[in-house]
Amino acid sequence: MMVKRVGITAIIMAFLFVTIGLAMAGEKANARKGKYLFRKTCRTCHIEGGSAKELSPVSKTQAQWQRVFDKVDQLKCKDEWAKLSEKDTLDVYAHLHGHAFDSPSPAKCK
Ligand code: HEC
Repeated sequence: MMVKRVGITAIIMAFLFVTIGLAMAGEKANARKGKYLFRKTCRTCHIEGGSAKELSPVSKTQAQWQRVFDKVDQLKCKDEWAKLSEKDTLDVYAHLHGHAFDSPSPAKCK
């Protein structure tokens, strides 16, 4: 009886570790790809001395990035965004929002 219960607990624990592990790996991969996409797609213009004002994750708070992504169609550069797939846009969001000024790990993208 006791042995059986320990076995079930072990199975549940293993399942939880795998699920949480996969979720975390997925999130990291997205933000990393988002960083690459941001550099490749956005920083061509949004860089010091570029054609638009410099932008990096710390340029905005998480709430401000949220607003940007909610209203992309109001941006001057919405046609540039349209070149990204939905998945790519989510990856860029993961990078910008995840490393925003008021996030736990703010990052300046150089
Ligand atoms: C072809 C050049 C170009 C590209 C590429 C581009 N933008 Fe822009 N973007 C502009 C211009 C021009 C403006 C309006 C003027 C300004 O804000 O400097 C603008 C405005 C913005 C704004 C509003 C300004 C602000 O500070 O809130 C945000 C946010 C923004 N862009 C984010 C992005 C992101 C993210 C990407 C990549 C997905 C991107 N842009 C790609 C040219 C570009």
